[in-house]
Amino acid sequence: MAATVSAKHIAIIGMGKMGEAIAQGLMESKLASQYKITGTTRSEESSKEVHDSLKISCSTDNSAAIKGADIVLLAIKPHQVEAVLQTNQKNFRSDQLILSICAAISTDQISEWSGGKAAVIRSMPNTPCLIKNGVTAICKGPRCEDSHLREAEKIFKELGEVTILEESLFDGVTGLSGCGPAYIYLMIEALSEAGVKVGISRKQATMLAAQTMMGAAKMVLDRGEHPASLKDEVTTPAGCTIDGLMALEEGRLRVTLIKAVLAATRRSQRMRFAK
Ligand SMILES: NC(=O)c1ccc[n+]([C@@H]2O[C@H](COP(=O)([O-])OP(=O)(O)OC[C@H]3O[C@@H](n4cnc5c(N)ncnc54)[C@H](OP(=O)(O)O)[C@@H]3O)[C@@H](O)[C@H]2O)c1
Repeated sequence: MAATVSAKHIAIIGMGKMGEAIAQGLMESKLASQYKITGTTRSEESSKEVHDSLKISCSTDNSAAIKGADIVLLAIKPHQVEAVLQTNQKNFRSDQLILSICAAISTDQISEWSGGKAAVIRSMPNTPCLIKNGVTAICKGPRCEDSHLREAEKIFKELGEVTILEESLFDGVTGLSGCGPAYIYLMIEALSEAGVKVGISRKQATMLAAQTMMGAAKMVLDRGEHPASLKDEVTTPAGCTIDGLMALEEGRLRVTLIKAVLAATRRSQRMRFAK
């Protein structure tokens, strides 16, 4: 559906994986008529690719994009944020919202680098936003009103689930749900290998592993029970599952997953402190 004349303009600065996923998700959502989406990239070549694939206006001109925007969605790499915002300080206005998805960059940094006029919201989505099954944490920053937070919530709700969290927890969110899809893909790949080892075709083993992962996740979300009690439901006394679980405990799967999240969280912290 085309955007209406009074549609708000979202300028996505950085049309890479996440910028594209958000643009595409919104354009395919019921909010399509409420927002006009444009993008920017660093290279002309990337701009052309985005234009050709999404049929939206995309350029390398951050200045024009920011000037014309109601919402500036920052989707560049964290180390690029300071330069892009400082170069464009004069283009930000007090009636704008800066919505950042950048790992490790605080709302105070964004506000300072952009000149302190626009309202700021920080968010941490993940790649399943591309298929509207993502999860996004959001938090308020300087000059952010409840109406801004509601707008960010509305936008990310079209791409999956949304939760509002303290900014102090954002490095942890990055380590858990931001990076999390990669951990899950690794587990699906490993389970699929196991299927192949016991004689199932690669295709069927991958489907069995992925659907099992999705079904179990849906049970946790729909039933709202502790995962341990759902695990007990599968674990018949002297059955097969307990043997599998024992092997996982021997391999220290639980502590390994906890360490993975902590390692990614520390990396996110270091990215900020390195500034
Ligand atoms: N990937 C994830 O799973 C994930 C999840 C949550 C949050 N994030 C956050 O999302 C942000 C983007 O990540 P990504 O994975 O989408 O990165 P990406 O695929 O590398 O995309 C970066 C984009 O920024 C563009 N860009 C670079 N410099 C620019 C500039 N000066 N002006 C305008 N555009 C510029 C690039 O254009 P060119 O192609 O021309 O270089 C590219 O389109 C990061 O801050 C990351 O922390 C990522």
